[in-house]
Amino acid sequence: MSTAVVILLKNYLLILRTEPYLFIDCGMEDILKRCIVEPTADGSPTLYQPDLDEHYHSVKGALTESLHVYLDMGWRYFAGEKVKVFEVGFGTGLNAALTAQAADCEGKATEYISVELYPLSSPLTSYLEGFLEADLLPYYRKVNDAEWDCPTVLHDRFVLDKRLDNILTMKIPEGLNVVYFDAFAPEKQPEIWTESVFRRIFASLSHGGVLTTYCAKGCVRRMLEEIGFKIERLPGPQGGKREILRGIKE
Ligand SMILES: C[S@@+](CC[C@H](N)C(=O)[O-])C[C@H]1O[C@@H](n2cnc3c(N)ncnc32)[C@H](O)[C@@H]1O
Repeated sequence: MSTAVVILLKNYLLILRTEPYLFIDCGMEDILKRCIVEPTADGSPTLYQPDLDEHYHSVKGALTESLHVYLDMGWRYFAGEKVKVFEVGFGTGLNAALTAQAADCEGKATEYISVELYPLSSPLTSYLEGFLEADLLPYYRKVNDAEWDCPTVLHDRFVLDKRLDNILTMKIPEGLNVVYFDAFAPEKQPEIWTESVFRRIFASLSHGGVLTTYCAKGCVRRMLEEIGFKIERLPGPQGGKREILRGIKE
């Protein structure tokens, strides 16, 4: 039997074991009642949400997936000195932290808007810090500490606007250059992978704007094509999915 350290913090019960690490958030009424922190193949952590039977990132490598699908195929692909990003699903803030770090190192001015309906508690995001590389940590802390619904300058090349809202009903910001479509899988949250959501995103994209997603399912690809995206099937991250999708609004 594995030993456990149990920490009781106000509303939260944190149980540290060998692997996986179990975190029970007793303070929320929604789908995020319980999350298990799991290491992924590249050593970076992800969360498993048992009620949905779904992970927040690829178990083949959370960091590798984020860097490939969103940074390389989206943010870096979009040529321009300034970029306006919209993320569907802020989650742990990993994509936001990596983008803030890249904007700082590569000098590309970035406005980053991210929507999240079920924000994670701060004890949980603080706990995840322990698994991250030292150079990413300051960005990760800043994106998670930033207030919701209050645009925050994280550094002189990065403004973060975290919106506590529902992608199904919110007004999608206009003039987007890059969309990180990082919702839970279509089998788990089919209501998000709909023509109506993608049409609203398409309308908010600038010409030359791009949408990237880890999901390469044929039905998603065909829906995006019907809406008007020019679709590319790109190789997936190393050790992960075979293909990912990038859609361009020409
Ligand atoms: C795959 S995870 C996102 C991972 C995240 N991008 C990261 O870097 O950690 C999907 C996220 O979408 C959020 N979500 C679920 N339904 C939503 C909705 N209707 N509107 C906005 N966000 C939603 C979930 O709570 C979850 O955080």
